[in-house]
Amino acid sequence: MEDRIVTANLMMEDQTAEFSLRPRYLTEYIGQAQVKDNLKIYIEAAKMRNEALDHVLLYGPPGLGKTTLSNIIANELGVSIRTTSGPAIERPGDLAAILTNLQENDVLFIDEIHRLHRTVEEVLYPAMEDFALDFIIGKGPSARSVRLDLPKFTLIGATTRAGLLSAPLRDRFGVVSRLEFYTEDELSFIVSRTADLLDVGIIGESSREIARRSRGTPRIANRLLKRVRDYAQVRGDGMITESLAQEALERIQVDPMGLDAIDHKMLHAMIANYKGGPVGVDTIAASIGEESQTIEDVYEPYLLQIGFLQRTPRGRTVTAAAYRHLGLPIPERS
Ligand SMILES: Nc1ncnc2c1ncn2[C@@H]1O[C@H](COP(=O)(O)OP(=O)(O)OP(=O)(O)O)[C@@H](O)[C@H]1O
Ligand SMILES: [Mg+2]
Repeated sequence: MEDRIVTANLMMEDQTAEFSLRPRYLTEYIGQAQVKDNLKIYIEAAKMRNEALDHVLLYGPPGLGKTTLSNIIANELGVSIRTTSGPAIERPGDLAAILTNLQENDVLFIDEIHRLHRTVEEVLYPAMEDFALDFIIGKGPSARSVRLDLPKFTLIGATTRAGLLSAPLRDRFGVVSRLEFYTEDELSFIVSRTADLLDVGIIGESSREIARRSRGTPRIANRLLKRVRDYAQVRGDGMITESLAQEALERIQVDPMGLDAIDHKMLHAMIANYKGGPVGVDTIAASIGEESQTIEDVYEPYLLQIGFLQRTPRGRTVTAAAYRHLGLPIPERS
């Protein structure tokens, strides 16, 4: 696990808290209006027909609420949810055991579904399509295929890497929803809601101050709020004020755009050593002592998303917006 405060990935410190901070119903789930509106209708229709909801695929960057939404769907349907993950299902038999233990209309949630083993995935196809498992009994000429009926169920798959999903698997989902980064308003709302749940006072523009630095990601917003709360408790009287929030966030080196020390180091290295690029990822990696893969998977996506970096065939370039943010003169480019 990374130790950056602004990582969108789940950190050790998030784990216990996330459970209690998770919204449990659609009305408490902030943002993602379109995804929510669609689901609301499908859920209602499934309930009216007393049928299982269509299989749902949720994809999008970490920390945007895929796991949360999956649990909400089961809750709203009034059914049980069985949670597992792609790599955890090692053999087809493991999946068969899970499937045969479901009740009619239950939800099976498979996180990191892009990491399912091939052999397991093949068992999943008929299960999703016909609610059946196919077995081969016996060997050689006397071998025969036996079909076992399963209860109707809803598979919810979650992934951060939809591109890695095989086409036959993707095609078997009736509902495919992409979660988007949250707006500052939505994150502000999430911060206020979490503050309420944690029973901590937060006033003025403090929640917005935290929201702005959260990289469009609720998980980061909640984490920053907790750090600010600690600071307010030790340095103030526990109430989070704007100035305390700002001080706390400066101390943990998260700037107003949500960039941390590593983002700054990388941008400054590109500017100082390579005139802002274009420069190859390997070169960037070497100049700040990191692995290229880490740059591509972890550091670069947010900078690309907010338009501070641009990907070109000849490498990465620092954009004018980034220069402005860093307070540096924008160089002439030929
Ligand atoms: N729409 C939302 N409203 C309020 N809080 C949210 C919302 N979405 C996510 N959160 C908060 O963010 C935390 C992280 O969400 P969640 O674990 O569902 O993300 P995820 O997409 O499953 O991430 P990963 O890809 O790492 O599995 C949750 O514990 C919850 O408190
Ligand atoms: Mg998750």
